[in-house]
Amino acid sequence: MHRSSLLLLLITALVALVGARPASQSLTPTPPQVYETTDKIPLPNVGNLQVHDPNVVYWDDHYYLFKGGWHIPYYKASNMSGPWTQVGTVFDVESVIHQGNRSRPWAPTTIERNGTFYCFYTLSTHGSRNSAIGVATSSKLDGSPWTDHGALIRTGQGNGSDVWPFTISNAIDASFIRDNATGKAYLNYGSYWQDIWQVPLSDDWLSIETPAKPDAVQLSFIPHETFRPEEGSWMSYHDGYYYVWFSHGKCCSFDVRGFPARGDEYNIRVGRSRAVRGPFVDRDGKLLLDGGGTIVYASNHGAVYAPGGLGVMPGNSSTPDILYYHYLNTSIGFADEQAQLGYNYLKYDNGWPVVLDGIDIKSSAAIISRSPGWWSLMILSVA
Ligand SMILES: *[C@@H]1O[C@H](CO)[C@@H](O)[C@H](O)[C@H]1NC(C)=O
Ligand SMILES: *[C@@H]1O[C@H](CO)[C@@H](O)[C@H](O)[C@H]1NC(C)=O
Ligand SMILES: *[C@@H]1O[C@H](CO)[C@@H](O)[C@H](O)[C@H]1NC(C)=O
Ligand SMILES: *[C@@H]1O[C@H](CO)[C@@H](O)[C@H](O)[C@H]1NC(C)=O
Ligand SMILES: *[C@@H]1O[C@H](CO)[C@@H](O)[C@H](O)[C@H]1NC(C)=O
Ligand SMILES: *[C@@H]1O[C@H](CO)[C@@H](O)[C@H](O)[C@H]1NC(C)=O
Ligand SMILES: *[C@@H]1O[C@H](CO)[C@@H](O)[C@H](O)[C@H]1NC(C)=O
Repeated sequence: MHRSSLLLLLITALVALVGARPASQSLTPTPPQVYETTDKIPLPNVGNLQVHDPNVVYWDDHYYLFKGGWHIPYYKASNMSGPWTQVGTVFDVESVIHQGNRSRPWAPTTIERNGTFYCFYTLSTHGSRNSAIGVATSSKLDGSPWTDHGALIRTGQGNGSDVWPFTISNAIDASFIRDNATGKAYLNYGSYWQDIWQVPLSDDWLSIETPAKPDAVQLSFIPHETFRPEEGSWMSYHDGYYYVWFSHGKCCSFDVRGFPARGDEYNIRVGRSRAVRGPFVDRDGKLLLDGGGTIVYASNHGAVYAPGGLGVMPGNSSTPDILYYHYLNTSIGFADEQAQLGYNYLKYDNGWPVVLDGIDIKSSAAIISRSPGWWSLMILSVA
């Protein structure tokens, strides 16, 4: 190859590399001591919906999004970027559980089994361990009211809250997983206090198995600290691994006059295990029970702040898994109700989930594999 065409190739490669980065000069100037300006984490695909702790289910060619709020509102769209239209609410009356604000459950997680939808929801109040996780079911996603089956677990007060580990944990932020070999179902939950836990569900998924002596395991914990900001767990399964995801850091109530130290705001972390019950380790081999957790998504570009409250929608042969979450857009605002829906496709690098840049699955996969190492190798071999 001619020296000139080699030079041209080199320039093309450099342009491609630079071109792969979003233009940072178009962003609002932000104080770097507060907002992370890194471009190593890609921007989200904008979901065009204000939501805290989103939960998305793909069903009958549509996305259904559930969120905490008055009677648990839910929405429908044919694209993750919207437009979303509200279908209705899970409840038409207060939850039967006497805990927290009975009209305003938090952090729903909805699962479908054989035509029945199970919505696991939380009742609690901020800064309190007086909490409960309940479940409601429906065979329709058309706005008609669901059947409320009441509490599966309670902490702080109420029936069953005197049973370990409900004596030390916080019954919020339910997530769900089935053992891929046996189909057995588990409920994951927890937050600050003693972080994330898992209990087996009974076969009807409406109660936990053996409530007087639950076979509970702790999934994540930060020892040697009194402040343990891990919550909002999710569990996904991909190619032989179970992944525990959670949000780490300060979630809400940001005040423009007093942000937490950079990096102490919400970010999305993961650990994995071959067994649904763990133990889970992060990419560095650190146990999640020892404070481990690999950051998969965090504040970026000075534009995205405190992403968390995530879920993972399983993909198929043509569509990758989708990581979705809420985040604050620094040019929109920091109030909790201004949180935005964001999402990214995932790829797996040696079995570790990595977020992809962009909405086009094929070109985003190309961008992420375009590392400087790859180009220098190619130029070397051409030379
Ligand atoms: C979803 O919406 C985005 C943004 O409007 C668009 O680029 C994309 O092609 C849409 N995807 C599908 C599957 O319609
Ligand atoms: C419960 O939440 C609803 C909706 O946010 C609110 O209107 C109501 O005042 C709350 N009730 C109590 C007792 O806090
Ligand atoms: C699924 O639901 C149908 C209709 O309700 C029922 O006949 C069938 O037994 C169910 N299958 C399983 C595996 O539960
Ligand atoms: C308390 O919980 C146990 C176990 O789930 C259940 O059998 C019992 O009926 C509950 N008692 C009340 C008063 O709800
Ligand atoms: C096991 O995982 C595969 C692939 O995700 C899925 O198709 C299958 O339904 C799973 N089996 C159970 C019992 O969950
Ligand atoms: C895979 O899922 C997407 C939605 O995420 C859907 O449009 C597509 O039809 C599915 N493909 C297959 C092969 O099931
Ligand atoms: C943030 O909001 C601004 C103004 O509405 C918009 O131009 C930008 O695309 C948004 N960015 C993200 C990542 O949401």
